[in-house]
Amino acid sequence: MIEDVTRENWFPTTQLGVTPEQTAHFSAPVVYWLAESRFESHFRPMTLSRGGTPVGFLVYGIDPDDDEYWLITFMIDHRSQGQGLGRQALRTFLEHFDRTHPQTAIRLGHHPDNVVAARLYDSFGFTPTGERIGGEVIRERPAVTAPVAEDAS
Ligand SMILES: CC(C)(COP(=O)(O)OP(=O)(O)OC[C@H]1O[C@@H](n2cnc3c(N)ncnc32)[C@H](O)[C@@H]1OP(=O)(O)O)[C@@H](O)C(=O)NCCC(=O)NCCS
Repeated sequence: MIEDVTRENWFPTTQLGVTPEQTAHFSAPVVYWLAESRFESHFRPMTLSRGGTPVGFLVYGIDPDDDEYWLITFMIDHRSQGQGLGRQALRTFLEHFDRTHPQTAIRLGHHPDNVVAARLYDSFGFTPTGERIGGEVIRERPAVTAPVAEDAS
C-alpha cells in the first residue's frame, strides 16, 4: 500500500533504514527527506506499508528547474528487503503515478554501482538517458500512452 506521510505514520517511517553497505550508494536517511519535503513544496513523500506497517519510503515530484517528474528517492527497509516488496512497491507507485499524472514521463537517478536498483528500474522501463548528474546514472520511463480504442479507425 502507498500512502502519504501523515501524523500517524511519520515516526515509524523515520525508523526505516538501509544496510550499512547500502549507505555507500544511498546515504540520506528518511528524516532528511521529510525535512527537505517540508520546504520543497513540490516534493511528495510517501510511505509504503504492508499490513499497516511501514516497510518502505519514497519521494517524488516535479523539478521546477526542468519541469520533469522525478522519483527522487526510493527504499525498502533492510529488514524487509529481498521479499519482493521493492518490485511490488515500484509497481504500486507507477500505477499511482500513471493514474494521477496521465501520459507523463518520470525520471530517476541512481549510483552506477547500484546494480540491484539498476536491474529493477530497467525491468519497469526506466532506460538510461545517457546523462550523468552528480555522478548518478539518469533513467527515464516514457509517458504511458492511453490504450488505443478498438474502433479508433
Ligand atoms: C533497491 C531496493 C529498493 C530493492 O528492494 P527489495 O525489496 O529488496 O527488492 P525485491 O525483493 O522486490 O527484489 C527486486 C529484484 O532485485 C533482486 N535483488 C534484491 N536484493 C538483491 C541482492 N541483495 N542481490 C541481488 N539481487 C537482489 C531480486 O532478486 C529481484 O529480482 P527479480 O524481481 O528480477 O527476481 C532495496 O534493495 C533498497 O532499498 N536498497 C537501498 C536503497 C536503494 O538503493 N534505493 C534505490 C536507489 S535510489
